[in-house]
Amino acid sequence: MLAGKQIVLGVAGGIAAYKSAELARLLVKAGAAVQVVMTRSATRFVGPLTFQALTGNPVWLDETASEDAMPHIRLGRGQELILVAPATADLIARLAQGRADDLLTQTCLARECPLWVVPAMNRQMWQNPATQRNLQQLRDDGIRIVGPAEGEQACGETGPGRMTEPQDIVQELLAAMQPGVLAGQRVLVTAGPTIERIDPVRALTNFSSGRMGYAVAQAAVEAGAEVTLVSGPTCLQAPAGLDMVRVESASGMFAAVMERVKDCDIFISVAAVADFRPAVTSPEKIKKDAAPASIALLPNADILAHVAALPAPPFCVGFAAETSRLVEHGEAKRRAKRLPLLVVNQAQQALGSPDNELLLLDDRGEHLFARTDKLSAARQLIAHIAQMLKPPVT
Ligand code: CTP
Repeated sequence: MLAGKQIVLGVAGGIAAYKSAELARLLVKAGAAVQVVMTRSATRFVGPLTFQALTGNPVWLDETASEDAMPHIRLGRGQELILVAPATADLIARLAQGRADDLLTQTCLARECPLWVVPAMNRQMWQNPATQRNLQQLRDDGIRIVGPAEGEQACGETGPGRMTEPQDIVQELLAAMQPGVLAGQRVLVTAGPTIERIDPVRALTNFSSGRMGYAVAQAAVEAGAEVTLVSGPTCLQAPAGLDMVRVESASGMFAAVMERVKDCDIFISVAAVADFRPAVTSPEKIKKDAAPASIALLPNADILAHVAALPAPPFCVGFAAETSRLVEHGEAKRRAKRLPLLVVNQAQQALGSPDNELLLLDDRGEHLFARTDKLSAARQLIAHIAQMLKPPVT
């Protein structure tokens, strides 16, 4: 199942390092060629000889690296994946900062392949805001976090932070290597807020962080689609492997979407597009004493409605942030815009938050996904879209 796949297994210094020996064995059993890179502290938990015997390859250590000219460059090339398990809080912090102070972090930094990180640590270290901040950075950088599991820990405490079991990691790996459910599909996603200028220093905007749209775009890339992400201004880094188009205003987003929509099969409109813009944008900063008592507004074009009304529209998915009567308002919006699928979320809980609870409305009814982080929610949404697009069994 992993025949011919080259995998670098990075092992950091935590007690869960003993589980990585089993992980190495399962990867080899599935047919992968495994090269192990251990940090200095990992060797205090498990001997390199164990991994050498299990993989049939010499183990890479900081010491052996100095005998080779550029091991970190060679190790990161031609690989299917770098899998770091266990990843300690310290290693996660170093990866988040882009440090390159040992062979494992150098290899991760110089890689040309996806990186998966399997955290393992005490529950309080896991829950510490510094660790969570670092993990978010890794996610934003397109790195996949596997687990952790919850349960009894080596320190005697119980909670989140246990390393995911080796067979579950291999399962997740095998699932990710299946041809994606959106392979061959071209997906256009909009994300983030729009900014409507009043003058050079003031604007109308909203609280959208862009996280949900970026997560949807990333999940579509993972599912094998060719993805274009049209984004309003956000602080987020573009997910790897897609075509990124940055815009500022609703009219900029409208133009960017219209230019690309004829080449897409699926349009997912996650952006919180401003419904109105100031009728006049002053080229000069408006002075306090010359400020108008009110600002005249003009409506912006509804991008999604426009796309859905094209003669041969792509499969259109809308998002609606509602503050009350979610199903009623959502269904009304879905019908008004003639969408096969609309995703409703509670505006107060979704905007700017790291996680989300999605309610999907389609011709078959309502589908509620439990609250989870935005990337997991996005993966569920992509799976649902793929299911809807499957040709009916005859
Ligand atoms: N949308 C869009 N262009 C706009 C406004 C909205 O493409 N000018 C899209 C959003 O990306 C989202 C969907 O339409 O997918 C729903 O947007 P929302 O603002 O919630 O709905 P409206 O129809 O504008 O209704 P209201 O603001 O009254 O709730």
